[in-house]
Amino acid sequence: MSGTRSVDELLTERIGLDPGSVGSSLVARGLEARMSALGLNDRNEYERHLSGSGEEFQALVEEVVVPESWFFRDDRPFTFLQDQARSKWLIDPSRPPLRVLSLPCAGGEEPYSIAIALREAGLPPTRFRVDAVDLSARSLARARQAIYGRNAFRGSDLAFRSRYFKEQNDRYELDASVRNAVRLIQGNILDSRLLANEPTYDIVFCRNLLIYFTEAARARAWENLLRLLAESGLLFLGHAERLETAGVRLTAIGDKGTFAYQRVATSPPHVATSLPSPVRLKAIEPPPRVKPTPPQISISSRPTADRARPIDAEVRPMSRTTPVPGPAIDNGSATSTLLDQAAERADQGRYDEAVGLCEQAIRESGASARAFFLLGMARQAAGDRNAAEASFQKAVYLDAQHDEALLALALLAQRRGDEASALGYRRRAERARARKGVG
Ligand SMILES: C[S@@+](CC[C@H](N)C(=O)[O-])C[C@H]1O[C@@H](n2cnc3c(N)ncnc32)[C@H](O)[C@@H]1O
Repeated sequence: MSGTRSVDELLTERIGLDPGSVGSSLVARGLEARMSALGLNDRNEYERHLSGSGEEFQALVEEVVVPESWFFRDDRPFTFLQDQARSKWLIDPSRPPLRVLSLPCAGGEEPYSIAIALREAGLPPTRFRVDAVDLSARSLARARQAIYGRNAFRGSDLAFRSRYFKEQNDRYELDASVRNAVRLIQGNILDSRLLANEPTYDIVFCRNLLIYFTEAARARAWENLLRLLAESGLLFLGHAERLETAGVRLTAIGDKGTFAYQRVATSPPHVATSLPSPVRLKAIEPPPRVKPTPPQISISSRPTADRARPIDAEVRPMSRTTPVPGPAIDNGSATSTLLDQAAERADQGRYDEAVGLCEQAIRESGASARAFFLLGMARQAAGDRNAAEASFQKAVYLDAQHDEALLALALLAQRRGDEASALGYRRRAERARARKGVG
């Protein structure tokens, strides 16, 4: 019959699926399941029915999509997300709340991991929002229920599970405080009206979907992703999905294994007609380890009170080679000027200069928690975690209530696998924040 499309054609046209990418048996099995549910034996008859029924198309979609996902799938993107959240949103309360999009979100494992990572980074729930989109109603129902089996937890570090899930008979129910931070939405990445009334997103996760798409569908998806991504926003892709960065509006950022791209702020506003070339989106081997493009650290706007150090049993001894800083001395504007300049340099991604200015401020005006905290942030952004940790410890030595330095230490301890120290720092940060009436 004229006008009837084949199953493969409809799937490609409407949801971008390249049937070859999932193996012909997945689509064949899906087709068989649907025909048997409808009591049909004739494929042509089924295709006629499918062409005219949106409901049937959705039922077929549920059979052929790949809903595979798990919590903290590839840990590096989440570590990098935490660095970004801390260096931009945590430190600068005047910034509007961080907006993150997880597309596709499958059964909620990815957007909930994002929400947990942000909470662990110290961002209170009012400071971020995660929108999560998927085509599959079945997956979204799983996400809404938010009860997971063991298979949803495949990483080696599962400490987060006991903090955010309640276990019963090998099933893990997610805490409502994390669920409430995520808004679940049914939608198609190829739909040019998807989230059309929403402001753009600071961060977009689009992982493990484009690999299943035809090249033409990737170009359409790419168009939508750019529409949804804020100026200077970050896009996280899956490990098999790469952008060719030369000459495009996104640039690789972060360590190998992060698979993050930053939108170049100077690019002209996105015009809907400027369809990017599909060849720009292609699977290639991991990018060479580049010196990370500077995250836009904004550390100037939230000076922390510098105080002499109260007695605190948890502060670790300083290394012998590093002079223990004395109590905070405020030498007034000279220090502030140097530290303000350091913060400015860090904002511009000039970390070495920021480090130099902090060190100069400490040499000339004495140690202060703010100076060591800024130094820690700049060193961390420059990729020197050990030196960053030493600086944060000094900040805490000088101001035991320095919640941001405590959180930074918690994250660094966690990344080393030192859960006990991470928990200790996190608790201290929470107490300090409660005392200050923050989050
Ligand atoms: C392999 S999961 C990836 C989930 C998660 N991003 C991750 O990396 O773990 C792929 C998901 O893409 C969804 N999907 C397939 N086609 C889609 C489309 N056209 N628009 C939105 N979601 C789609 C499927 O329903 C499935 O849940």
